[in-house]
Amino acid sequence: MNTELDWGNLSFGYIPTDYNVRCHFRNGKWGEIEVSSSETVNLHIAATALHYGQEIFEGLKAFRGKDGKIRVFRLEENAKRIISSANGIKMQPVPVELFTEMVKKVVKLNERFVPPYGSGASLYIRPLEIGTSAQVGVKPSSEYLFLILVTPVGPYFKEGFRPTNICIMREFDRVAPKGTGRWKVGGNYAASLDAGEKAHSLGYSAVLYLDPKEKKYLDECGPANFFAIKDGKYITPASESILPSITNMSLQQLAKDMGIEVECRHITLDELDNIQEAAACGTAAVASPVAEIDDLDTGKKYVVAKDGNPGPVTTALYNKLRAIQLGEEEDIHGWNTIIE
Ligand code: PLP
Ligand code: COI
Repeated sequence: MNTELDWGNLSFGYIPTDYNVRCHFRNGKWGEIEVSSSETVNLHIAATALHYGQEIFEGLKAFRGKDGKIRVFRLEENAKRIISSANGIKMQPVPVELFTEMVKKVVKLNERFVPPYGSGASLYIRPLEIGTSAQVGVKPSSEYLFLILVTPVGPYFKEGFRPTNICIMREFDRVAPKGTGRWKVGGNYAASLDAGEKAHSLGYSAVLYLDPKEKKYLDECGPANFFAIKDGKYITPASESILPSITNMSLQQLAKDMGIEVECRHITLDELDNIQEAAACGTAAVASPVAEIDDLDTGKKYVVAKDGNPGPVTTALYNKLRAIQLGEEEDIHGWNTIIE
């Protein structure tokens, strides 16, 4: 069946697709993969996901390439990261093979929702795991549901690849210094909603969080990592309280391939006076250029994109990443999985 969506104008929202895939962990083992066309789950009222936040998720994308083939970007990295998240909050890890098989299956089943080449859109893949067994004491669940839904999406920031302003607000932390920031735990996003809404109401696309211990170093944006170009180098925060972004990791590799030096280290706020480019990077955000970083506590404004345009290094990295994802350029690092 052909699918007619306005592919070029999709936002980052939810559009129903044909199927999702599910797998239950019960009696100490993962069961068979189930294919479902239901958009709901039936949960016990005392499930740990509902009471104690045992919920983790992932985000990855499938692209329709120039050659018509469907490519999923770096799926084994997402498979590894959800295991790390599971261990972080005492959930049952999903084996890499199961994760991989389910991603391939759900993309294939919903093939008609993979946006056409050239539309700028992609199929967003959202794996999630929840604790499902009844528990009123604060303890890990003994049963889990792992499911993957997909939905076609456009740009995360409505401006697309246009620079936007972000802000710093010290009254909010998203995570604790040695807390759950390094894992993709639903609660981190709940903890970011208040700050995010405030930032949006003031016209900012995202919050740039400082490290929650000293408020001295840059951490990351609500839904994405942060990088800057400083004197020709790609600099990005090293921190225990940020999510290890697969996009950031990929951009670092592409930067090195282009002969650009990469520094993953503490970045102080003062350094923002001397950067030439900055961007928020992630699966949803890709590389979203930053125009200005406003410190709402001190009133200081760090103007990054002085002419209002994305910088040359960010543009080159963005184009290179997209070209690999779309099969326009050779995938020399073996990042794509082709869905047969
Ligand atoms: N940081 C946070 C808090 C995120 O939610 C995301 C999105 O997944 C990222 C960073 C970027 O990670 P990735 O590039 O793996 O999508
Ligand atoms: C992603 O980039 O995949 C994310 O999960 C970020 C956001 C939509 C929460």
